[in-house]
Amino acid sequence: MMFIRQLSICLTLLFSPFVASDELQQAAIASAHPLATQAGLEILQQGGNAFDAAVAVSAALAVVEPAGSGLGGGGFWLLHRAEDGFQTMVDGRETAPAAAHRDMYLDDNGKVDKQLSLDGALAAGIPGVPAALDHLSQHYGRLPLTQTLAPAIRYAQQGFSVTKHYQQLAQFRLTTLNQSAEARTTFLTNGQVPELNSKIIQHNLAATLQQLAQHGRAGFYQGEVADKLINSVQQAGGIWTQQDLRNYQVKERTPITGSYQGYKVTSVAPPSSGGIVLLSMLNQLEQLDYQHADIHQQRHLLTEVMRRAYFDRSRYMGDTDFVSVPVQKLSSKTYAKTLAATIDNQLASSSKQLAAPPSKGEDTTHFSIIDNQGNRVSATLSINYPFGSAFVADGTGVLLNDEMDDFSAQIGAANVYGLVGNEANAIEANKRPLSSMSPTFIENDQQLMVIGTPGGSRIITMVLLGILDFINGEDADTIVSKPRFHHQYLPDVIQVETPGFEAAELTALEQRGHNIKPLNRRYGNMQIIIHDKHSNSLTAASDPRGEGMARVH
Ligand code: GLY
Repeated sequence: MMFIRQLSICLTLLFSPFVASDELQQAAIASAHPLATQAGLEILQQGGNAFDAAVAVSAALAVVEPAGSGLGGGGFWLLHRAEDGFQTMVDGRETAPAAAHRDMYLDDNGKVDKQLSLDGALAAGIPGVPAALDHLSQHYGRLPLTQTLAPAIRYAQQGFSVTKHYQQLAQFRLTTLNQSAEARTTFLTNGQVPELNSKIIQHNLAATLQQLAQHGRAGFYQGEVADKLINSVQQAGGIWTQQDLRNYQVKERTPITGSYQGYKVTSVAPPSSGGIVLLSMLNQLEQLDYQHADIHQQRHLLTEVMRRAYFDRSRYMGDTDFVSVPVQKLSSKTYAKTLAATIDNQLASSSKQLAAPPSKGEDTTHFSIIDNQGNRVSATLSINYPFGSAFVADGTGVLLNDEMDDFSAQIGAANVYGLVGNEANAIEANKRPLSSMSPTFIENDQQLMVIGTPGGSRIITMVLLGILDFINGEDADTIVSKPRFHHQYLPDVIQVETPGFEAAELTALEQRGHNIKPLNRRYGNMQIIIHDKHSNSLTAASDPRGEGMARVH
């Protein structure tokens, strides 16, 4: 057995140009919160590897960035193991409870009641993060959960400071947070947004994390924590059962891989649409005269490839454990050629002419890690809307997701972001809702980038723009800072960050027939690490739009 494993490592090293043979002298972490980055560094210093650090960072984010992700949510961890080049996607996405059904968010008139899929216990899928942390630790880590969860437990007990970003998101979800007794006492002060720099202390969450640390997944999905979760959810009108919690399974999936301009791209498979949509866009660009076009023409071409890839997202994509998705076809270069052939070099096409409906999302979080062995993690985690369902299960400190809104509540009905979905992503018992989360690696023999970001349906186009800047030789700080734009098939508009673009830049797109929608804000919170293989050095950057921290040490 050992011989076969060693032989396989040797063969991988011989035949893969992408496996780094040199160990790094450095490690790096970029995450959306300084305390989460520190938690990961602490674990690396204690002898943990990147996968242990990923457990520590995920758990710390669950405590200190409660609006973005948490134990009550889900996520995808894309892993690269240095010793043998093995890559996998750990899928800890939420599942629909067994009692879920396709009409569960319709009112008596057959119309979607948006509040039901967004606010409160009925909006929550069965969480995957606790099981995924246990899985990561058991299968890939070196340290026990008692050690890797220790920083998060400490942060929950000692508190974290309220920032402006926290205040804005708490204000946004104020009404709903006030409807859950434990959410109100945990995240608000007398029902109001807490003062800047005041402390958010979470003793119940610390106790739940301790159960997870001591008993692994059983500490969350069985026993006292599970009892409290089920009682609280059912009392608040939710449909979770003990069986749902016991049945939750982490899945390991083969990542989606492809190439662009000689780079290998590795990203996530369904139930995320991220990898397929990203490759579709890159494959289409390869068919077009993109590299030699001026900046205005490049943006026109980018918009057109985004439009087509997101159109396919809306038509074909859902949880592949339940529906058949033509993954090979959609991510193939041959198919991209047929899509690119429909792009007019001068003029915008119309999304209406393509026919049918698309995607979603807003909050969420991302972190990237490389350790000094070359192990890496790109992880995007979510509870969906800011503060998820805004419902905390009594006595647990666990803020539940509202990821059920990532399903199509009704074919053709718009979700909270004005987007519509289809049959492949209809609600079914135990199914995973379609996601846009896109943790990704891109590399050639010169350089490597670990990249990802929150931002709902815009995640995939942010990762695309980041990849193109990386290939263009931009440094880490520039990649995370540059202005962004996005097209997702419907609505048929280019969404642009403001501030970001000059009037003349927008006019150049309008002259090609595109509709521009300024967003009056910036979006995303990208966390990247770049490995320059020549100098064997790392650089890392955290998006200036957020409050995160990137460190190389
Ligand atoms: N909830 C955001 C996403 O998974 O796309």
